[in-house]
Amino acid sequence: MSNKPDFNFSFQIIHWQKAHGRHDFPWQNTRDPYAIWLSEIMLQQTRVATVIPYYQRFLQCYPDIKSLSLASLDDVLALWSGLGYYSRGRNLHKSADLIVKNHGGKFPSESNSIKKLPGIGRSTAAAIQVFAFGKHHAILDGNVKRILTRYFGAKGYLGEKKLDTLLWKKAEELLPENKVNGDIEAYSQGLMDLGSTICTRNKPKCAVCPIHLKCAALQKNKVGEFPAARPRKLLLVKETTMLMIIRRKEILLERRPSKGIWGGLWCLPEMPVNEDISLYCYQKFGLKIKQLAHMPSVEHSFTHFKLRIYPKSMLADSKNLATNKGEQEWIPLFRVLELGIPAPVRILLNLNFINE
Ligand code: ADE
Repeated sequence: MSNKPDFNFSFQIIHWQKAHGRHDFPWQNTRDPYAIWLSEIMLQQTRVATVIPYYQRFLQCYPDIKSLSLASLDDVLALWSGLGYYSRGRNLHKSADLIVKNHGGKFPSESNSIKKLPGIGRSTAAAIQVFAFGKHHAILDGNVKRILTRYFGAKGYLGEKKLDTLLWKKAEELLPENKVNGDIEAYSQGLMDLGSTICTRNKPKCAVCPIHLKCAALQKNKVGEFPAARPRKLLLVKETTMLMIIRRKEILLERRPSKGIWGGLWCLPEMPVNEDISLYCYQKFGLKIKQLAHMPSVEHSFTHFKLRIYPKSMLADSKNLATNKGEQEWIPLFRVLELGIPAPVRILLNLNFINE
């Protein structure tokens, strides 16, 4: 593997981006660091097509840092509902508050201040600095890692410390010189565009890649082998019973604790799979169950485990049940989808009740 910096690389990427890259995303053609920050956070684990409508709704509701800092976390999470990885929404809300307190409501432009905001790592901080302030910083998200791993024929799997360190070094070395206005933006966007349209994980389009002549993986005819597959860990399966307890046209929901998965979101009450449902409902909620139906199980994948959900639908005696406001509430079915609820719960509710 050659160590010498390759000055052609950035030239090729910049010119390819200008001619063939993507130029019309709603977060492009602006220098507003808030709008750029929001897009980079939403795009962290989610594809562009999914992000666009969420991004537009979010900016309409909260057009600036001040309005976001004044919003309730519940409202922010409701807007995030369905986008997944809800800690991103919580961190955004918390950061808006920090920016108002520590930076007078103005998004900071210094690396150290940006990286101190929750939810912003090195690559996201760099992307914000590039697109909002035109600064020269190296980005290295998953797509760019794949490009560089192939280009240099680098060994190791993504997430491995040694490979990560090497790729950051290469990413820094390959940056274009700070000579021409707009080059760093075109270069960084070009890497993102190349990663999502040409140097894709499956079926890369090497013939039209602007750097294919010097791609080490292609020269060895082994593009499909880079980056190496991560050694497989057995994916843990967790099981839970979710209770869809209906009283008249209302459903009982619980708010999850703010830490952990689905923190702060509204969920169906959960219980261990092997306990008696009627007894549990009576002991926990003082509820008498009138009808109980066992629905087909559904699975939801997280990064480190799979959740198998056994949904149970039941009618509750409408007389009793005082709820703990803010933690457990009877929610009218027609209002349920306005709340911040995780995707599998949304699917269950949609399937079973909402379209009635
Ligand atoms: N992924 C992360 N940031 C992006 C951006 N600015 N444009 C397109 N895809 C991205």
